[in-house]
Amino acid sequence: MKLVWSAASPFARKVMVVAHELGLADRIETVSGTGTPVAPAEATRRHNPLAKLPSLVREDGPPLYDSAVICQYLTSLAPGQTLLPEAGEARWSVLTLEALGDGICDSAVVTRYEIALREEGMRSQAWMDSQMAKVDGGLDALEAGGSGTLGEAFTLGHAAVGCALGYLDFRFAEKDWRAGRPALSAWYDTFVARPSASATAPA
Ligand code: BEZ
Repeated sequence: MKLVWSAASPFARKVMVVAHELGLADRIETVSGTGTPVAPAEATRRHNPLAKLPSLVREDGPPLYDSAVICQYLTSLAPGQTLLPEAGEARWSVLTLEALGDGICDSAVVTRYEIALREEGMRSQAWMDSQMAKVDGGLDALEAGGSGTLGEAFTLGHAAVGCALGYLDFRFAEKDWRAGRPALSAWYDTFVARPSASATAPA
């Protein structure tokens, strides 16, 4: 399998964290899709009509996207896996945690592009502030949930949250997201210590 990927993308990183956790990383070859929304790479355009990464190119079927679909596909290749429960409330809980992590990334990424791709005079501060308010809302919800949200286990949802926090450190180093969020901060230390996290650190 080939993953159209960028080392900076938290969504592509989530896929690779999940692949490592499932013991599937050796079966995935990464193909660079590094570009920008205004100039997407050829590989990114070829495998996803939305010209977004990541996409998973399979030998026995059409490409899969987006990262949430790819992660569910990977769990289907690993019988007995524990990252995503098969059914019931536990499954909805994991998928909602994934959506929370992904949503933090969505807002952080569009803010990053506003800063990196738009000339200063063209930027909307109000719009960037509204996006970063979503980031803070997500972080506050994770902090308030404490162990009830993050718990002891490691699931697909935890992979999404870990990659979101890693992206904030990577692209928003000046934003002290740990301030006032001791539980989330302590949980993130456990994420960073996982081999799947160290193997996929953003660059
Ligand atoms: C970034 O450079 O921040 C980035 C790259 C790909 C996807 C998302 C973000």
